[in-house]
Formats: sequence, structure tokens, C-alpha cells
Amino acid sequence: MAGGRFIFLGPPGAGKGTQAVRLAEQFGIPHISTGEILRNAVRDGTELGTVAKGFMDRGELVPDEVVAGVVADRLTESDCETGYLLDGFPRTLAQARALEQRTGGDVGRVVYFELSEEEVVVRLTGRRTCPSCGENCHVKYLPPKIEGKCDKCGTALIQRSDDTEETVLERLRVYREQTGDLVGYYGDRKVLTKVSASGAPTEVYDALNRAIGRE
Ligand code: AP5
Repeated sequence: MAGGRFIFLGPPGAGKGTQAVRLAEQFGIPHISTGEILRNAVRDGTELGTVAKGFMDRGELVPDEVVAGVVADRLTESDCETGYLLDGFPRTLAQARALEQRTGGDVGRVVYFELSEEEVVVRLTGRRTCPSCGENCHVKYLPPKIEGKCDKCGTALIQRSDDTEETVLERLRVYREQTGDLVGYYGDRKVLTKVSASGAPTEVYDALNRAIGRE
């Protein structure tokens, strides 16, 4: 099957990115992670990166108009013609409304990944990321084959600057205050599907496929 529109919603560290990579490949659609776009902009020292860096380092959201503009531009690219998977966008009601305007109201399926805050802290403080190819692993749950090295490209793994316990707790607070309302917003529109994000990645992926009607 090819094509489709998906939004992945859920607390930081719920495993949205991990699942998004697989589902986007299965559907032949681009995986659009606003976090990744912003991190790349910071790494490359662009104007966007300069604006975003302080917000990201503090665990706060980058202003709506900045992120909505980035996504609007990305959705005009030709690879989005048959669909896309949005990972980490929208994150506020203002972003949700901006997306609806852009898509004429057809936002597709919204998948909400549920995970306890205790587990979020364990997953994020143990996450290690490849600064070269973006691959993620986890020191305990998904350890790399060679300690400290990316399985895909061999680059030395790093800890994301916003994955310290202090910043993770702030990201959770921001999520509760600014993103939590989207669950009700999309629930009311009957486009929301809940998936338990606890369990091994393959179990979550099976639950995700069941939830979107693909056994
Ligand atoms: P972003 O990069 O979007 O971060 P996030 O939503 O906080 O999500 P994460 O990437 O941290 O987690 P994830 O759910 O993808 O989990 P993952 O699969 O990696 O945003 C970062 C920042 O950018 C924001 O704080 C904000 O400043 C800014 N930003 C981004 N979008 C924005 C927007 N729309 N508006 C405003 N600002 C925005 O998994 C986590 C770990 O767990 C990994 O180590 C993984 O290996 C492991 N893991 C995954 N699944 C499992 C499993 N089933 N079992 C065990 N371990 C698992």
C-alpha cells in the first residue's frame, strides 16, 4: 500500500520517531520530524537554527509561527503528494489549526502514543543518538552492537543536549500544558487512535498496525 496522511502525537520519548521510520517506509511516504528539521538547522547554523536553539535547549517549544512555516514549506515538496507522516507536529492548538488550513481540513489519521512519565524519563535519559545519520538507540533497551558507536554508520554516539533529566522533566511539563489538549481536540474530530507505547518496539509496531487497520 502506498500513500496516506498520519500525525504521530504523544509525550517526548514515547517512541514516535522509532515507529515513524518503519511506518513511513511501509507506506512509501516521507517521515517529517520537526525536531529533526530543527536540530539539523541548529547543527548547520542557519537562521532557523539560531532562532530555535535556545528554546530547544530549555525544553520549550519553538514559536508556532516559525514551526508552522517550516512545515508548510516542507509539505509543498513533491514527495508529499501521496501523503506524509508528521512526527512531533502539531504540538499546540494554533499549529493544529494552521495544519487544517493547509490541508483543507483533511489531516488524516492521528496516532496517540501513550506512555507513563516514569518510562519517558528512563527512555530519554538512556537514549543515544548518532550525530551523523540520526539513528537512535538506548543504552539498556536497544544497545548498539559496539558500545558508543552507531550501528548504521559507526560514528560516535552522543546524548542529545535536551535528554538530561532536568530538561526531560521540563519537556514533560511543556507537553502537559501545551500539547495534551490535542488529544481531546482530535478525539472530538474522530480521527484519533490510541496506541500503548509500552512494550518492545516490535510489539508497539504490531499494535500500531492493528490500530490503523492493518493486521
Ligand atoms: P522532538 O525531537 O520532536 O522531541 P520529542 O517529541 O520530545 O520526541 P523525541 O524525539 O524526544 O522522542 P520520540 O517519541 O521520537 O522517541 P524515540 O523514538 O526517539 O522535539 C525536540 C524539540 O524541538 C522540542 O522540545 C521543541 O523545542 C522543538 N520542536 C519540535 N517540534 C516542535 C513543534 N511542532 N513546535 C514547537 N517546537 C518543536 O525513542 C526514545 C528512546 O526510547 C530511544 O532511545 C529509543 O531507542 C527508545 N525506544 C523507543 N521505543 C522503545 C520501546 N518500545 N521500548 C524501549 N525503548 C524504546
